[in-house]
Amino acid sequence: MTDEPTTPRRNFYGRVHGKTLRTSQKQYLAEDLGRLTLPGVTQADNPGRIPLDVAAITAGRPLWLEVGFGGGEHLVHMAARYPDVFLIGCEPFVNGVAMLLGKIRASGAENLAIHPGDVRDLFDVLPPASVAKCFLNYPDPWPKARHHRRRFVTPDYLQALARVMQPGAEFRVATDIPDYVRQTLEEVPPAGFDLIAQTGAGAAWEDWLSTRYEQKALREGRDPHYLTFRRQG
Ligand SMILES: C[S@@+](CC[C@H](N)C(=O)[O-])C[C@H]1O[C@@H](n2cnc3c(N)ncnc32)[C@H](O)[C@@H]1O
Repeated sequence: MTDEPTTPRRNFYGRVHGKTLRTSQKQYLAEDLGRLTLPGVTQADNPGRIPLDVAAITAGRPLWLEVGFGGGEHLVHMAARYPDVFLIGCEPFVNGVAMLLGKIRASGAENLAIHPGDVRDLFDVLPPASVAKCFLNYPDPWPKARHHRRRFVTPDYLQALARVMQPGAEFRVATDIPDYVRQTLEEVPPAGFDLIAQTGAGAAWEDWLSTRYEQKALREGRDPHYLTFRRQG
């Protein structure tokens, strides 16, 4: 037996690499990713899983989290819109990270950091009740029934999220998949959240910025669904 903290081995089923990066994107990754990467999150960087010093990271600002930021448009939009907030974005897909870095250069936003990996690594090292808002925009749908347990809206992810969210903190979910709405409504409340609002096309959050996946869904004739939960307590 050992009393060292351990983290379970986890499977990640999504894509980590896509098509060849443009020269400019390779340059962003080489020049900017190190500076913008949140230290102390990966196993390699923090094998003891010592909790992050959130006040030092955010300089005392509220911490917001975006899970799976894709191309980063929503993350950069929120950082620019809310300069008094600090955002962490998680995304394992390197092409998405490179796209975000280009947008950060263009916007000049400085109130954000990146974990270029699985959000579960971040959940391990965030202190309890440290996150004031969380965005889950167009999570991977995993349409086959036998893959539904890979969805974010399953107990392991949701219990880890609930632990790090402050009482009263908002959790937003956007999806175009009716069965994802069903599972979200079934699984999120038992993890410690109350449903506050459920709207559809044309009735997104007042500060919403439509994402690449939402645009794709609209082009292909699927309707957006917007769900807002509040952490109990
Ligand atoms: C369908 S895409 C949506 C991207 C973006 N939010 C949008 O709306 O355009 C889902 C994203 O979630 C990311 N993702 C999946 N599992 C994740 C995890 N465990 N941690 C962080 N991101 C994850 C994927 O890499 C992918 O980029």
